[in-house]
Amino acid sequence: MEQRRIGNVQVGAIGLGGMPMSIEGRPDTDRSIATIHAALDAGVTLIDTADAYHVDADEVGHNETLIAQALASWGGDASGVLVATKGGHQRPGDGSWTVNGDPAYLKRAADASLKRLGVDAIGLYQFHRPDPKVPYADSVGAIAELLDAGKIRMAGISNANPDQIRQAQEILGGRLASVQNQYSPAFRSSEPELRLCDELGIAFLPYSPLGGISRAGELGDRFAPFAEVARAHGVSPQQVALAWMLAKSPHVVPIPGASRPESIRDSAQAAELTLTDAHLASLG
Ligand SMILES: NC(=O)c1ccc[n+]([C@@H]2O[C@H](COP(=O)([O-])OP(=O)(O)OC[C@H]3O[C@@H](n4cnc5c(N)ncnc54)[C@H](OP(=O)(O)O)[C@@H]3O)[C@@H](O)[C@H]2O)c1
Repeated sequence: MEQRRIGNVQVGAIGLGGMPMSIEGRPDTDRSIATIHAALDAGVTLIDTADAYHVDADEVGHNETLIAQALASWGGDASGVLVATKGGHQRPGDGSWTVNGDPAYLKRAADASLKRLGVDAIGLYQFHRPDPKVPYADSVGAIAELLDAGKIRMAGISNANPDQIRQAQEILGGRLASVQNQYSPAFRSSEPELRLCDELGIAFLPYSPLGGISRAGELGDRFAPFAEVARAHGVSPQQVALAWMLAKSPHVVPIPGASRPESIRDSAQAAELTLTDAHLASLG
């Protein structure tokens, strides 16, 4: 698979998003493990997760545990796989998502993620979402401390605007490795953050790149130009959407979610799909 860079680490240009395997509607463990193994077999070396990818309040880190289990049971060499997790969101168990950007909480959350992943240091730790109750600098300051303490190898932020990206880059002393924002054919308002990351040389990880779990299957029905280009290449509209965002910048690394092996196998092929300038122009 084509390689891209997050900080000083090379990863396959298409990553795997772990959320559909751990939140509402998730499959059984065997299918999830098969999905993660299919991703690794296809050359995926970035897996995105979060401690908040779970359903009940007493199963925090469900997805991290699943990923650790899948990496341990995979037949190949998983040493080059970058697991990117996040802290700052919580799920009390009633279906809601709350935020907690308290520095002491973030440091405890990172310690717990580190244990669940079974590593000496977390490959990439991302502050999940700004907490309006806590100054952004304080939350990102906790991430900087984790970096300085060697508990995380790289630092990232998520759901950030351009000002927050610049602020985080300053607080982290130029060590901001990644920004993870929503970006898809349906949701293009993260274009300024994508452009800023391109300019600063920071990896941009589009999340929900196919429009989100419930709408990913309808991408071709909702966006005719993607369906047309897909027909011309004999591939899925989902592959075209991923190839389209890869073409936006060499710093883009999409993380399509999957709960079935065939979904991530199809998505992974987008790394090899080159679209013509005319096709790209038709997609916007
Ligand atoms: N930072 C944040 O705040 C945040 C928020 C949301 C998501 N995320 C991250 O971003 C990742 C991706 O976002 P997402 O999972 O919300 O949405 P998504 O990637 O837009 O859509 C996921 C769904 O797409 C389907 N799919 C994947 N590849 C496909 C293909 N080639 N053809 C047809 N369908 C395909 C999968 O179906 P099957 O389930 O049937 O395989 C999956 O459920 C998440 O898993 C999570 O890691 C981060």
